[in-house]
Amino acid sequence: MTQHLLLGQTLAYSGNPLTAPWSDVTHHERRGAVAIADGRILEVGPADRLRSTYRGAKVTDYGDDLISAGFVDAHMHYPQTGIIASWGKRLIDWLNTYTFPEEMRFADPAYAAEVAGRSLDLALAHGTTTLTSFCTIHPASVDAFFAAGAERGMRLIAGKTCMDRDTAPAGLRDTAQSAYDDSRALLHKWHGTGRAAYAITPRFSPTSTPGQLEALGALWAEHPDCLMQTHLSEQVDEIAWVRGLYPDARDYLDTYERFGLLGPRGLYGHSIHLEPREIDRLVEVDASVVHCPTSNAFIGSGMFDTLGLGGRGLRVGLATDTGGGSSFSMLRTMAAAYDIGQLRGGALHAAQLMWLATEGSARALHMGGVIGHLGAGAEADICVLDLASTPAIAQRSARAESIWEALFATQMMGDDRAVRAVWVGGAAR
Ligand code: GUN
Ligand code: ZN
Repeated sequence: MTQHLLLGQTLAYSGNPLTAPWSDVTHHERRGAVAIADGRILEVGPADRLRSTYRGAKVTDYGDDLISAGFVDAHMHYPQTGIIASWGKRLIDWLNTYTFPEEMRFADPAYAAEVAGRSLDLALAHGTTTLTSFCTIHPASVDAFFAAGAERGMRLIAGKTCMDRDTAPAGLRDTAQSAYDDSRALLHKWHGTGRAAYAITPRFSPTSTPGQLEALGALWAEHPDCLMQTHLSEQVDEIAWVRGLYPDARDYLDTYERFGLLGPRGLYGHSIHLEPREIDRLVEVDASVVHCPTSNAFIGSGMFDTLGLGGRGLRVGLATDTGGGSSFSMLRTMAAAYDIGQLRGGALHAAQLMWLATEGSARALHMGGVIGHLGAGAEADICVLDLASTPAIAQRSARAESIWEALFATQMMGDDRAVRAVWVGGAAR
């Protein structure tokens, strides 16, 4: 068993800084070490002590760089990698103009494989070690993504996107029955295979018939250990659309709830314009909401209430929402989360931002302590950050009086140039 010892500044957490004072649950070691073997973290602690405990270990010294858990992107669309940064549309037009035509190309398994590999390599270059992705309606798009993840040893969560309503274009529709059958077959094939986990994936209420939502609710009831991912209350126009399509529903969340698609392993992307009843129900069932701040600004969706929803005890994840989001970088995503917090009147601390991108997202995925965690027993997915990666950042971090001030400069101005190294499952990439 080869042991590795990574030396640098370390950043670890023992609780939720959205509900507890961040300074109580955050552990920074100026000269720290992470011991790794067999794909897992054995121990995190002071470098001096770990050096004497793990004498035979191979040592990689990252100097003043910051060793963190790898970033966990809790909501993205790998098939939209190629259309990121497409101009000028809001959600419904953006889907019709850019997204759906691109997703049609995934009928070709070779194209799906090429984009899957490209999106994972981009993620790794940005320090992201886990992605939670929507695929397309094509089962082969799911195979391509999980296969590319297995090649890279990455922990991935994904599912076949289901759409059977005529609001989605012909050529990008399944049926209630085929969505159930294909999702079930993919779930049996991939869920728990290596580091893959399957998420049942109705795109959102407007592109599914009640029959399809019901079928996927039944599938989830048969496989309650799976996650279920979808979209909720992203734009005001979308909510009005849902109201027209589901006139009997109490609100948007109810279009899921009435078909068995509200539960503790439900992941509700965006969740911006929520009614009080919706928030109460999400809290009651211990569901997860996912903040996609670059997307919410880029597509003009609105301002997610990170501190309010996190303060209610909701599981809150952070995500790029590629390609509605405008960056592959979870650092850029933290900057956008900070900006939106400020616009809502609450400044997120550097420790809270970092927690959201690691522990928070992992907790939203019900994988707390397993990924996104720099601590004993966690899977050794690690991101090493250079806190002086550009001249602009270096001149700011040079005068920082604390790790938080230094880290904040990288969170606000950093990108893939700040990522010094990435370890996946205990192996250097
Ligand atoms: N709502 C339904 N589908 C999508 C999508 O692909 N991206 C975003 N941002 N919102 C959606
Ligand atoms: Zn999305």
